[in-house]
Amino acid sequence: MQKLAISGGVPVEGDIPLNGAKNSALPILAGSLLCKGETVLENCPRLTDVYAAMRILTHTGCCCAIKEHTVSVCADGVCCSEIPEALMQEMRSSIVFLGALLGRTGSCSVCYPGGCELGPRPIDIHLDALRKMGVRILRRDGRLECTAPCGLKGACVHLRFPSVGATENVILAAVLAKGETIIHNAAREPEICDLAHFLRGCGAFIRGDGESTIRIKGTDELNGCVHRIMPDRIAGITYLTAAAATGGAVRLCGTQNACMENVLPVLEQAGCRIERASDDIYLSAPSRLRAVPRLRTMPHPGFPTDVQPIIMAAMTVAEGVSVFEENIFECRYRHADGLVQMGADICVSGRTAVVSGVKELSGAHVNATDLRSGAALVIAGLAAHGETEVRQIHHIDRGYEEIEKRLSAAGARIRRVAQ
Ligand code: EPZ
Repeated sequence: MQKLAISGGVPVEGDIPLNGAKNSALPILAGSLLCKGETVLENCPRLTDVYAAMRILTHTGCCCAIKEHTVSVCADGVCCSEIPEALMQEMRSSIVFLGALLGRTGSCSVCYPGGCELGPRPIDIHLDALRKMGVRILRRDGRLECTAPCGLKGACVHLRFPSVGATENVILAAVLAKGETIIHNAAREPEICDLAHFLRGCGAFIRGDGESTIRIKGTDELNGCVHRIMPDRIAGITYLTAAAATGGAVRLCGTQNACMENVLPVLEQAGCRIERASDDIYLSAPSRLRAVPRLRTMPHPGFPTDVQPIIMAAMTVAEGVSVFEENIFECRYRHADGLVQMGADICVSGRTAVVSGVKELSGAHVNATDLRSGAALVIAGLAAHGETEVRQIHHIDRGYEEIEKRLSAAGARIRRVAQ
């Protein structure tokens, strides 16, 4: 077991290179199952969730390899469409292998996925959509036995909520289905566009990604391609916010700035100066941030739920009162306990959290409870006076590649040590 040891109160200042996006790499890795020949994914982050996805691919019969940040997958030998429970439990994204395996083999046996505990995370929207595409689903011994006896067929699918995972699953099932699939109320996250971009590179016909209606024309065959995974917008905001909360200045390198425009104005409102260049962002922070008005998490292009814990960590030391409203997950304020332990003033009531900024936080021993809560505690530790230990960092390692190296290269005093 490892933990992060942080000596806080030092501004984060310097250049930070951005890694590829976990939430884009995972569905794209699932998509590689659909292709003949070799798929090569560049800029793939080296993260425990990516390794878990590679284990699933290997289990189904794919040959996978990772060299530095390039993952290659050859799916020509796929021979198994059953994913064992232990692999399903490793992460939430294991569920997107359902659509991909159905597309590839016409059947798939899975159980409910694991992943960050953020409240109930049902998969009814995924299953309803797949049923419309001709999939028969039987529940047996805690597993879902899914088959498409007459093959997958295109369908008009209306998602009751623009679920990211369900949109990905339907796209993955639809690219090799017979006929056209139309997804209404699709998720519009940039990672959906990256998946569609990859699949188009393999020969798929997809239009409308990034909008609420996506149209997919099924084709007979896809061929592996070389694709570069998009930069991780949530990790990017995390590093910018680390500078914002510590009165520092950071140049984030290798960004896709448009993807972050739903958050950068919030940092500007808090008093940061931001300069956007073609593929980097420079942020310099005031000595103390200002509180921001009410932030409501919403599906993209709204304010992202994944960023809520991160901005909240910075607002704990801002001047004034900030109000957060979490509308995506029922239980996404678990970071508040750790922040309060460090001296933050946070009052959570249902969907709302009121943060009254304090002059300073003090170091404490805190536990990451999920990926972004872990990132929030790291930011608070960097801003706090004294020593902080963040434990349970396996959560952080699911989504941030060598977070301590990136931050320490920018002057932060943060080390990974044995627990
Ligand atoms: C993706 O999760 C991301 N994960 C999450 O990031 C992110 O928080 C979330 O989208 C929202 O942006 C990955 O991409 C791997 P959803 P996903 O399906 O696909 C409800 C991180 O920190 N819902 O859009 O699981 C659900 O309960 C992670 O990187 C149903 O009711 O999110 C939730 O309230 C955490 N039925 C809401 O929709 C369903 O069938 C959003 O879920 C599916 C979802």
